[in-house]
Amino acid sequence: MLKKFNALLHAFWNGDPKQAELTFRNRHILINKNSFLVSRAIVPDIPELLSLQKKVYPNDSSWNFGVFEEEIKNENKNLYLIMRHDDRLVAFIGAAFDRGEHDVHITNVAVTPTYQRAGLGRYLMRVMIDYANSLNYQSLSLEVRQSNEPAQALYKSLGFTSHGLKKDYYVFNREDAVDMRYEFSRKGNG
Ligand SMILES: CC(C)(COP(=O)(O)OP(=O)(O)OC[C@H]1O[C@@H](n2cnc3c(N)ncnc32)[C@H](O)[C@@H]1OP(=O)(O)O)[C@@H](O)C(=O)NCCC(=O)NCCS
Repeated sequence: MLKKFNALLHAFWNGDPKQAELTFRNRHILINKNSFLVSRAIVPDIPELLSLQKKVYPNDSSWNFGVFEEEIKNENKNLYLIMRHDDRLVAFIGAAFDRGEHDVHITNVAVTPTYQRAGLGRYLMRVMIDYANSLNYQSLSLEVRQSNEPAQALYKSLGFTSHGLKKDYYVFNREDAVDMRYEFSRKGNG
């Protein structure tokens, strides 16, 4: 508690937005005339996150309850957002805002199959890009399976570029990952 207070005090005196708490105000948005509630994920959302994960990565259970819990609870570093339609959790995104780094790392993004290709993934990615920009980060990064062409198409359409492969990155089938990055055009800052 004292540590947190000191960090906030430090951020206040130094005017460093990167040290500020990662806050997010719930919002209702319209996509193709459908209304979605966008909010920060909390621990009770994890069963729904797991069921979404199972639908989009049926053979990969590396993100279990404990992994989600640790990620979501580390709320000074991580920001996990969910989208609900008619109270059903239909999409989520996670990102790590490492204070010592200039880079925000997207850890996960997924949209339930029946809601895919409707702009939800693009919306969530844009929220994270805008958030990173508002905190003066220099870039965002992520890894994506080499075979995952839909996701790569999404990232490229947003301005991410490929920076080589990470060999055998995925434990499940030892697939290579493409290292992708989005750079803000304000070098020397942050
Ligand atoms: C990748 C994923 C998050 C994209 O979310 P989405 O809401 O379906 O994507 P959007 O509707 O916002 O699409 C935005 C753009 O991405 C690209 N894209 C998305 N899905 C695509 C597909 N199946 N084929 C080709 N391009 C695709 C297109 O450029 C699209 O723009 P367009 O519809 O105007 O052509 C979603 O498909 C998903 O959850 N996949 C399974 C989990 C996953 O792979 N996550 C990424 C891990 S790195």
